[in-house]
Amino acid sequence: MYIDNFKVEDWFNEYEKLSTYDMADTCVESFTLNELLQLVGNNNDELEYIMNKKLNYGDIQGSQKLHSAIKSLYNNTNFPITITHGAIGANQLVMQAIINSGDKVVSIIPTYQQHYSIPKSLGANVKTVFLKEENNWLPDIDELKEVVGNNTKLICMNNPNNPTGSVIPQNMLEEIITIARKNNSYILCDEVYRGLEHNNISIGNIWEKNKSIIDLYEKGISTSSMSKVFSLAGLRLGWIVAPKEVMNKIIIHREYNTISVSPIDDYFSTIALENKDKILTRNLSKIIEGKKIISDWVKSEPHISWIEPKGGTTCLLKYDIKKSSVDLCKELLNDTGVLFLPASTLEMEGYLRAGYCSEISKLKKGLNLFSDWLYNTI
Ligand SMILES: Cc1ncc(COP(=O)(O)O)c(C=O)c1O
Repeated sequence: MYIDNFKVEDWFNEYEKLSTYDMADTCVESFTLNELLQLVGNNNDELEYIMNKKLNYGDIQGSQKLHSAIKSLYNNTNFPITITHGAIGANQLVMQAIINSGDKVVSIIPTYQQHYSIPKSLGANVKTVFLKEENNWLPDIDELKEVVGNNTKLICMNNPNNPTGSVIPQNMLEEIITIARKNNSYILCDEVYRGLEHNNISIGNIWEKNKSIIDLYEKGISTSSMSKVFSLAGLRLGWIVAPKEVMNKIIIHREYNTISVSPIDDYFSTIALENKDKILTRNLSKIIEGKKIISDWVKSEPHISWIEPKGGTTCLLKYDIKKSSVDLCKELLNDTGVLFLPASTLEMEGYLRAGYCSEISKLKKGLNLFSDWLYNTI
């Protein structure tokens, strides 16, 4: 089966190890197990338990405790859940399960490349709708109405959005759902950043107020994981919540490529999810701190502009110098050790993707080095 190169992953494979200041990370600074257990107030009994647990396949579909903890993130508790190898495994399984050659898929981009390259590799006819800067990186509903037709099998989107940091408000989500419902289309919403809407610091009741696609739409499919919201990408644990008829197909594919997810990952993910409020408090405050630093920097940097992100961990920085984003990123990395992601890897040009929530201590230094470099280069 042919599939296009995954451009973002290619970039990181080649350049991440060469960087001193990684400004491209999408996770809120990851936990060590010690930090996690300290934050949630667990003691050595937890470690004793896991050290003595037989490392068999564990619960094939994920433990009951894990399922209950995931359910607590949604208002709709009627859809079945399955556990996957990260959100990357979740997205892949959904697409394999529902897309057949010749199906029409509409993908809202820029987004994680899985959302257009996997359907294409499965033989789907993929149409893309760009988020536009003039719409504050939100989808253009009229364009979507034109592109989605009555034979559109699936609409793929990512909300909150990586890379732009835009968050589709509920009334706009409902407009998208109206289009999908009229055309009998499924919506796959990759929700790996749901919970990291920046106004969550003040609104409270996060999961109730920031509704998932499955809370709003009977043909909605939600994928997510431990990587971003819970700072535990190393656990490689994600999930799918989907209508029963879709889940039945997903399970068949899952048996061929997953069997189960490690019981170690299941165990620590459950602990983290059961303590989600503590983790979110830590992570939202890191996000607000990082965003203030990058926001002040953007204001002071004449060659950079942006649409301020409203959610997630990333933003697009627009630059006004005549260089391709790949050339700019390579030269900057070579001269300073500062790493951004060139937005051409996301089908855009003239922008860099920055992450501002990982190692806050390095963020300021990296941005200052970038300013000096711009000053000396232009
Ligand atoms: C939008 C989006 N979906 C999925 C993934 C993959 O996440 P995971 O680490 O859970 O496999 C990423 C990782 O960057 C992402 O940004």
